[in-house]
Formats: sequence, structure tokens, C-alpha cells
Amino acid sequence: MQIIKMEKEKIYEEIANYYEKRINENPRIVLGLATGSSPIPLYQKLIEKYQNKDINFSQVKTFNLDEYVGLAKNNEQSYYSFMNDNLFSHVNIDLNNTYIPSANPEHISNYIELLKQNQIDIQLLGIGSNGHIAFNEPGTSKDSTVHKIKLDQGTIQDNSRFFDDINDVPTEAITMGLEDIMNAKEIILIAIGKGKQNIIKELNQCEAYNQNIPATILSEHPNVKIYVDLEAGELI
Ligand code: GLP
Repeated sequence: MQIIKMEKEKIYEEIANYYEKRINENPRIVLGLATGSSPIPLYQKLIEKYQNKDINFSQVKTFNLDEYVGLAKNNEQSYYSFMNDNLFSHVNIDLNNTYIPSANPEHISNYIELLKQNQIDIQLLGIGSNGHIAFNEPGTSKDSTVHKIKLDQGTIQDNSRFFDDINDVPTEAITMGLEDIMNAKEIILIAIGKGKQNIIKELNQCEAYNQNIPATILSEHPNVKIYVDLEAGELI
């Protein structure tokens, strides 16, 4: 697990250039995608690269990490809408090649099956202030796969910034499990801003998986880069 501290702008430039290289080397690449504010500048850079004809998404396949339970697909806060608004509708990706989990029990088993058939080449992650990755909250077991969870009160509080009222934030979500994330060939996590200082400090000190901080599982993966900006990395 390599922690790389650099200026925010440089982080996105470096990761976007890396995605460009990897997609050009393998146009059928399988990407694990994330939501939240951290990936947005990366998606903007990928859209620019598409517009400049540096990237072609026509054969790229994507799997999203998570989705709220109880929001209509077209609700502006659903992760389905997030992906369309921030990436998919701006590039030439085939929407049939984009997958986002949903809480329908049949859909959960399909998603598990699809992830078995399509190993993710690069999994993008953000991190919650409590150390969650995707929506794997503290206490999640190592061998978890796609499952429904109850959001922690802290996560509801953190994510309420996107909603008009905290009572509008869903209390449940569907998420890839820790095992699904660890199955990716390579993982890139982005942590930006002061709010991530403490969790990045803990992650930097960890030597093995600690159930109370789900992201510590990444210390057991052979190919992980954690990009932190100067604020998120201030305590390391
Ligand atoms: C949500 C998502 C996570 C994401 C986290 C951090 O809880 N489910 O996948 O990593 O937010 O969000 P941000 O990037 O806005 O800090």
C-alpha cells in the first residue's frame, strides 16, 4: 500500500494520464468506479480526454461500487444519476457495458456473478471519514461480497451535504463487499481535504486489517496506491 501525497491538481492529472494509458493499452478494460466528490475532477479530465480524442470508451466496461436503497433511479442523488451526470452521458461508453448495483435480491446475485466473470482491472475508491470504502461500514467482514447495509449515523451526516434535508438521506445502501474490492487487480484510492486527515493518519499506521477501519484491508492487497492531497495528508 503506497501512500502518495501531492497537490490536488497533480493527483488528478497523474491518475487521468494513467487511465488514458491503460485504456489505450486495453480498450476492453474493466473499470471499478466510485461516486462522492473525490472522483469528480478525475471524471472531468477523462471527459476532456475523450473530447480531445485521446480516449475511446466504446469497449470499456464499468462496475460501480454502491447505490442507495430506496431512491428512484432518476432521483438526482442516486448513484445512477451521478454516473450519468458526471461521466457516462459525456463520453461514448455503451450503457449496456455499465453496471450499478441495486437492492433487488435477484439483482444482487447477478451482480455477484458478473463480478466473478469480469475481474476489475482498476478499482477506483474514495474513503469515508470513518474509514468506509464503498459503503462497507466499520465491522464489515473481510469475506463480504455484494450486500445490503445500514448506513452509519456518521455517514448519513457526511452525505447529508448532498441532500436538502438530513431526513432525505437514505438509511440503507447496497455495496460491493470487501472481498469484491480486494479481487481487483489494482486499486487507486483518492482522499482530499481536511476531513480525511485523521483517517489517513490511521491508515498510514495500520499494518493489518482492523474491522473498525474497513479501508485497512487495503494493506493486504499487492497493488494499491492511495493519493492524498496536502490537506488530507497533513498528519503523515
Ligand atoms: C460515499 C460513497 C463512498 C465514498 C465516500 C467518500 O459514502 N459511498 O464510496 O468513498 O462517500 O466521499 P467523498 O469522495 O465525497 O469524500
